[in-house]
Amino acid sequence: MQLADKVIVVTGGAGFLGAKFCAAIAEQGGIAVVADVDAATAERVAVQITATCPGRAEAVVLDITSAASINALIRDLQQKHGRIDALVNNAYPRNREYGKKLEEVTYDSFCENVGLHLGGYFLTAQQFSLYFRQHGGGNIINMSSIYGTMTPRFEVYADTPMTMPVEYAAIKSAINQLTRYFAQYFKGDGIRVNSLSPGGILDGQPEPFLRKYNIHCSSKGMLDPQDVCGSLMYLLSDASLYVTGHNLLVDDGFSL
Ligand SMILES: NC(=O)c1ccc[n+]([C@@H]2O[C@H](COP(=O)([O-])OP(=O)(O)OC[C@H]3O[C@@H](n4cnc5c(N)ncnc54)[C@H](O)[C@@H]3O)[C@@H](O)[C@H]2O)c1
Repeated sequence: MQLADKVIVVTGGAGFLGAKFCAAIAEQGGIAVVADVDAATAERVAVQITATCPGRAEAVVLDITSAASINALIRDLQQKHGRIDALVNNAYPRNREYGKKLEEVTYDSFCENVGLHLGGYFLTAQQFSLYFRQHGGGNIINMSSIYGTMTPRFEVYADTPMTMPVEYAAIKSAINQLTRYFAQYFKGDGIRVNSLSPGGILDGQPEPFLRKYNIHCSSKGMLDPQDVCGSLMYLLSDASLYVTGHNLLVDDGFSL
């Protein structure tokens, strides 16, 4: 019960990784706030977690690109629980153009994706940091990726419709630096800020891709969502009390 009674907001909590993160938080006795633009899925995730875990989960609607939406969430949680302990910046907004190869990415689309994802992470971290500073501290974990630090191995995507979007590399590397910036800026305010960088997560990818990807790994290769949860629990818990400005890679050695 590393997270007993801690109120932890997971943006994008209804998503692929977010729902697993919320369940892991509730399993450690925390209150997982499933904060997502997709209200119906967030509600489903929260109900399911509360039925099966020692802690609990609650669904809230959140748009990370709206200051009004973020501040309404902070206000409501403060009123309801009298505290917020941590933010997991985990949502994954992208436009309809997202995922194209470099040659096909337009300037407008590039800027829109950077604005939604990087801008949304900035705005959410900014508003929560200001709340945390006023309330004696808090903990922020920004979801990044190995592609925030390593150059892509494009050959693993050959013969598949997949690519590693150029916007993603720009966004995630900026999130790593945003993490260090915030950690430094809020030193002395009881706020620590870290990023968590998973490698590839198994989600029905084609076999030829998995074979090429896994060659670069140490043991398992592509990971399951649960394989990332332990590292998130570490960063959320007091076991990492003096860790700040760090980027924790969980990739079975892929980026080496
Ligand atoms: N899945 C992976 O392989 C992987 C690997 C490394 C890092 N990551 C990172 O983990 C995080 C989560 O990824 P995922 O694969 O679970 O994504 P996902 O698409 O499954 O889930 C993202 C969630 O974010 C929500 N969302 C989108 N726009 C939003 C907004 N404006 N406000 C609030 N919520 C919004 C969506 O409704 C969705 O529920 C992302 O930061 C991603 O870059 C994922």
